[in-house]
Amino acid sequence: MKRPILIHPDPRLKKVCAPVTEITDDLRRLAADMLETMYDAPGIGLAAPQVGVLSRLIVLDCVKGEGEAPRPIVMINPEVVAASDETNTYEEGCLSIPEQYAEVTRPAEVEVRWTDPEGAERREGFGGLWATCVQHEIDHLNGRLFIDYLGAMRRQLITRRMVKLKREQARA
Ligand code: NI
Repeated sequence: MKRPILIHPDPRLKKVCAPVTEITDDLRRLAADMLETMYDAPGIGLAAPQVGVLSRLIVLDCVKGEGEAPRPIVMINPEVVAASDETNTYEEGCLSIPEQYAEVTRPAEVEVRWTDPEGAERREGFGGLWATCVQHEIDHLNGRLFIDYLGAMRRQLITRRMVKLKREQARA
């Protein structure tokens, strides 16, 4: 089932999310809903706070090539355990900040540790778009948005646009 995506500014997008302590059917259902919501948007990543759940859970799939098999990943309590000195700059966007894009510089490679929906500990290195995406999604769990990397002027401009968009949506 698709869930509505919160649009910035929203206080729930600024919160530090709580660790998941138990993997329940509800949590697995939430992860499935988040994947469905992400693919439908379409997007390459989604964090639980974006659907109003303040728990440390993200989903992502950065497979982009046509005809390539999808690779949905559900990460519970994800943590960056190592990051490269080398950086990469990508034009980022966010489903909570629709149609706004900006260049953000982050470590080019990261090693991430997480728990999968079956309760197994996983650890994997990511590069390229995957590295950017996983860092962007983990940021959401700490109440951090990609626009927080921009200068105040740019951030305020984007925020004003989103306030206007939300006002228009509320009227529609
Ligand atoms: Ni985002």
